[in-house]
Amino acid sequence: MTTAVCPGSFDPITNGHLDIVTRATRHFDEVIVLVTGNPTKTSGLFTIDERVDLIREVTADNPKVRVDHWGGLLVDYTTAHHITALVKGLRSSLDYEYELPMAQMNRRLSGVDTYFLLTDEKYGYISSSLTKEVAKYGGDITGLVPDIVREAIAKKFG
Ligand code: PNS
Repeated sequence: MTTAVCPGSFDPITNGHLDIVTRATRHFDEVIVLVTGNPTKTSGLFTIDERVDLIREVTADNPKVRVDHWGGLLVDYTTAHHITALVKGLRSSLDYEYELPMAQMNRRLSGVDTYFLLTDEKYGYISSSLTKEVAKYGGDITGLVPDIVREAIAKKFG
């Protein structure tokens, strides 16, 4: 059985993330969406548990997806679970510059390979941080995140 990990902070998951996760399940038997970060830290809009719950809800219809969280080095998680593949989305050359050293470091540390999927052009400009900023000032984020996530963001901003 082939398994890949899709790691990220997912604060919160966007439609761009979801598209990458869904496409990854066409290439691997199982995809673990791994929310990274320290559960005791309160930075971010959503707690780690809230992020995990939102991802579980929006991927519930895909039996190939599992959701987990991890507060340590990513490669410690993949090595402990005998996972040899990471999947990440690339929106632009900026993402490439950010991702390349992490992919190389992770490979040096553990031998894990990183597979990059190019973001669908519909989602190329979407990020969690931009979505939160637009929502914070009352802008419409319909279509940028799943509806459940849009409602959860609206609750956070009152
Ligand atoms: O969604 P993000 O914030 O771009 O994801 C970055 C993430 C979470 C994949 C990266 O920060 C990470 O792997 N963090 C876990 C700690 C770790 O292993 N750091 C060394 C990376 S080379």
